[in-house]
Amino acid sequence: MVHYLKTLKQKADSMKEIITHHEKETEAFGRELAKLISPPAVLCLYGELGAGKTALIRGLAEGMGLTCTVSSPTFTIVNEYLGERELIHFDMYRLNGADELFDIGWEDYLRRNAVLAVEWSENVEDAFDGSEIRIRFEKLSDTERRITVEGGELC
Ligand SMILES: Nc1ncnc2c1ncn2[C@@H]1O[C@H](COP(=O)(O)OP(=O)(O)OP(=O)(O)O)[C@@H](O)[C@H]1O
Ligand SMILES: [Mg+2]
Repeated sequence: MVHYLKTLKQKADSMKEIITHHEKETEAFGRELAKLISPPAVLCLYGELGAGKTALIRGLAEGMGLTCTVSSPTFTIVNEYLGERELIHFDMYRLNGADELFDIGWEDYLRRNAVLAVEWSENVEDAFDGSEIRIRFEKLSDTERRITVEGGELC
């Protein structure tokens, strides 16, 4: 895991890529990522069903010191995990465009000093202004996932 962190830091301005081999590794990567992100920040997650987006966010929450249960908020659209730091978890799977995200108060969320993690960002691309951290997942096999991170300001 230290290796992941080192890799991310060394390549701070370019795309970073890792391959994980188990859900636990993706969670661990999320925990490491938490150390590099300072709120306010928007993380756009892209990738098919079962790609590992929620697994990464679960690790992110742990890394942010949040002890809540993280699951895909498929039916609620947004879950808030609140503690000393705030993580807001969106699932845009059922949304048909950025307008629907604005309808649920996206701009208010942006004003909070929180980390906003957005699953299925593909569906609301017009809501983003280019300052986001983009995290893309590719399923390489049943258990392998390529995860690339680009953009934003990782510290
Ligand atoms: N390397 C890996 N990283 C993450 N998940 C993995 C990995 N290998 C296998 N898996 C499995 O893939 C699934 C990932 O589920 P997860 O809910 O995180 O996906 P998701 O991208 O959030 O999907 P959805 O779009 O349905 O919300 C889990 O069943 C997990 O056990
Ligand atoms: Mg999910």
